[in-house]
Amino acid sequence: MNATALKKFKEPILVTRPYLPDLEEFKEGLEEIWANQWLTNNGPMLKRFQAELAEYLGIPEANMALFSNGTLALELGYYAMGLAGGDVITTPFTFVATSHALKRIGANPIFADVDPETLCLSPEAAERLITPRTKAIVPVHVYGNVCDVEGFERLREQYGVKIIYDAAHAFGVFNHGIHGRHGNDFDGKGRSIGYCGDMSMFSFHPTKLFHSCEGGLLVFKAAAIQEKLFELRNFAIHSETECVDVGSNAKMNELQALMGLECLKKIDELIDYRKRVHAAYAEVLDGCPEVKLLPHSQNKAYVPVLFKDFATRERVYAELKAQCNVFTRRYFYPLLTDFAPYVYAKGACPIAADCAARVLTLPTYYGLPLEDVKAIAEDVKEMVAG
Ligand SMILES: Cc1ncc(COP(=O)(O)O)c(C=O)c1O
Repeated sequence: MNATALKKFKEPILVTRPYLPDLEEFKEGLEEIWANQWLTNNGPMLKRFQAELAEYLGIPEANMALFSNGTLALELGYYAMGLAGGDVITTPFTFVATSHALKRIGANPIFADVDPETLCLSPEAAERLITPRTKAIVPVHVYGNVCDVEGFERLREQYGVKIIYDAAHAFGVFNHGIHGRHGNDFDGKGRSIGYCGDMSMFSFHPTKLFHSCEGGLLVFKAAAIQEKLFELRNFAIHSETECVDVGSNAKMNELQALMGLECLKKIDELIDYRKRVHAAYAEVLDGCPEVKLLPHSQNKAYVPVLFKDFATRERVYAELKAQCNVFTRRYFYPLLTDFAPYVYAKGACPIAADCAARVLTLPTYYGLPLEDVKAIAEDVKEMVAG
């Protein structure tokens, strides 16, 4: 390989960078918080953020609850859905939080394999593991790619199991009716994909396309559990004299809500920019047989690519770092079932294991210059040709 052809960036290029809103506008919000003298516990910023999210997502406010982060949102969501003590079928091809939150409430993750095209949990693989102990299935919209929601809906109806989506990556993904019964009922853009199954969780961590410093949102079909979730995120305190369960402290504070509000103003632009980043990668990599661009979601939150084998992926990952100053991530490697708490299921999901060994996510974020994107893609192409 002719290494001299590689472009080395002066400044490191990281896999992502958080969007930071206009500082002057953010300061105006801070002044409001100072004037309110209200920092947390269901304050006015939080209420405004919730209302604006409801409008953006096309989901009533009664069907959502905000949290301090996505992991606690999942944990309390699983708990409120009654999963403690039960078996829950999920995917190993995800971030550890999907299963950690199950373990932390005493549920038992059972791992089923993924669909080789989308890398999302396969409903057929999940179905084969359903037993009378199964309380729920937790699929993940990996990289913002939509799971087979119709397949999971069938399992929900046929077996009476709950379906709870980890939609951490899928903010800005709307259902245009392609999945039937849920779609096309909100100003023509569809409802948020979060309105599938019984419940979905969005993460607002700064590594995500949309963020609130840290934060998480649960969207759920049964408005009746909203009050339970509000209580659980506040120690399960019901009134001045009553604590009704073992809750947590998982409240989103006013500064987080302000950051969320400011980022929400820009959401369309953030998504459009990632679409341009994706198109720039595709311009160079489409048709390159050694690098497969995975199906890209509507929100283009990530740019995952698959190489032909583990050795090539490892070489590209290391060379991009050492020779180009480009820091990619091997999401999701190692697979969850290689980590100590889940090693009991090691080897159970060969498709997921194969993808984890070959996948790399390339840099994408708002403002990443498109000529840099093309240079990174050329570097990758050069490396696999070598
Ligand atoms: C798939 C997935 N689930 C859950 C989480 C946890 O979200 P948070 O970081 O907001 O706790 C993340 C990301 O961080 C994630 O990528």
